[in-house]
Amino acid sequence: MAFPTFTLHSKLESAIFNGHPWIYRDHLPDFHDLETGEWVQVISGKARAYGLYDDSSPIAIRLFGREEPSAGFIAERVQTALELRQMLFDKNTNAHRLISGEGDFLPGITVDRYGRYAVVQTYADCLETILPEVVRALSKGSFPLKGIVRRVDGVMQSLWGELPPPELSILENGLTIIANLYDGQKTGLFLDHRDNRALLGRLATGKTVLNLFAYTGAFSLYAARGGASKISSVDIAPAAMEDAKRNFALNGFDPEQHDFLAADCFTLLETYVKEGKKFDVVILDPPSLARSKDNRYAAARAYKKLNLLALRCVNDGGMLASASCTSQISPDHFKEILLEAGLDARKRLQILQENGHAPDHPVPVAFPEGRYLKFVLTRVL
Ligand SMILES: C[S@@+](CC[C@H](N)C(=O)[O-])C[C@H]1O[C@@H](n2cnc3c(N)ncnc32)[C@H](O)[C@@H]1O
Repeated sequence: MAFPTFTLHSKLESAIFNGHPWIYRDHLPDFHDLETGEWVQVISGKARAYGLYDDSSPIAIRLFGREEPSAGFIAERVQTALELRQMLFDKNTNAHRLISGEGDFLPGITVDRYGRYAVVQTYADCLETILPEVVRALSKGSFPLKGIVRRVDGVMQSLWGELPPPELSILENGLTIIANLYDGQKTGLFLDHRDNRALLGRLATGKTVLNLFAYTGAFSLYAARGGASKISSVDIAPAAMEDAKRNFALNGFDPEQHDFLAADCFTLLETYVKEGKKFDVVILDPPSLARSKDNRYAAARAYKKLNLLALRCVNDGGMLASASCTSQISPDHFKEILLEAGLDARKRLQILQENGHAPDHPVPVAFPEGRYLKFVLTRVL
């Protein structure tokens, strides 16, 4: 089959050859007559790849690989993605990423599983071309689903099967967690931190824990199961804190024994620093503080301030578990920020473990930008 073809600058040859999935608009000629959702071929030197053209986003072409798109290739990619998840999870976890966009060589589309429901997210209009094939392959795939949905402008759409109930609970490493697919953040839960939560749980025995930006308290639940003596969970969203309390009760932990505060973490930390209030373990998992390259430096300053305040609230010999979910700050940059915060706080930091997202969020070798999540566990001396 003949595909519309763009011959691009030779400086893109190695990225395309290696399998980088994005071509930005400024690499395309100003005038062409392509429409969103069309398959196109790009050539640069000896490299060649095929992708979907998009008129509406800064990423003008999402590349799917060197082979010509053929009937059934999307279904094969979905199947390959599902096989990975079959390998990764047992009956104690039924919520995880099923398709991780670029990481599963299906750029621009993610699918999360919450028990018998799958939640799709598409990041550009061009993905509508392959969406029906993705949905068909998922509905026939190895995870038995009742419904496949997506949330568009806050409205839940059924793509296949039935709509999920207003609230459902899922299992993560044997813990029961409420997931609100209609109004929750992300697609319902922050699935990417699963392994970081498990790590934290193993270290929490007998400790006082401050879980900042806690959402519905998933880190706190692991700390409770790990035997933490007292857990304080803080999030600005009162509804998230209510769900956190309910999550504790669902898992047999008495919420009355712990603190749940709907508050601004920056202000609260400043108050704790003034009061000299300290904890054995502080968890920092703020929302993305940089949405674009332009505010990367402002974000770096905010991360530093936050980490500095948090370090002042850690008991000597305690731990800071600090995360950043913005791809604008690289893993190395994030550690520089921690170093600066440690110096200002007059603390020595030992890195105990450095993680990213869990393996159901794979990253292609040719796409380092895909590694958005940083999680650094340090001992504070
Ligand atoms: C990345 S999520 C945390 C996910 C959580 N750690 C988990 O494992 O489920 C960030 C959270 O920060 C909360 N948030 C945003 N700004 C805040 C602020 N200034 N103070 C407190 N919480 C805030 C959001 O409501 C959101 O729940």
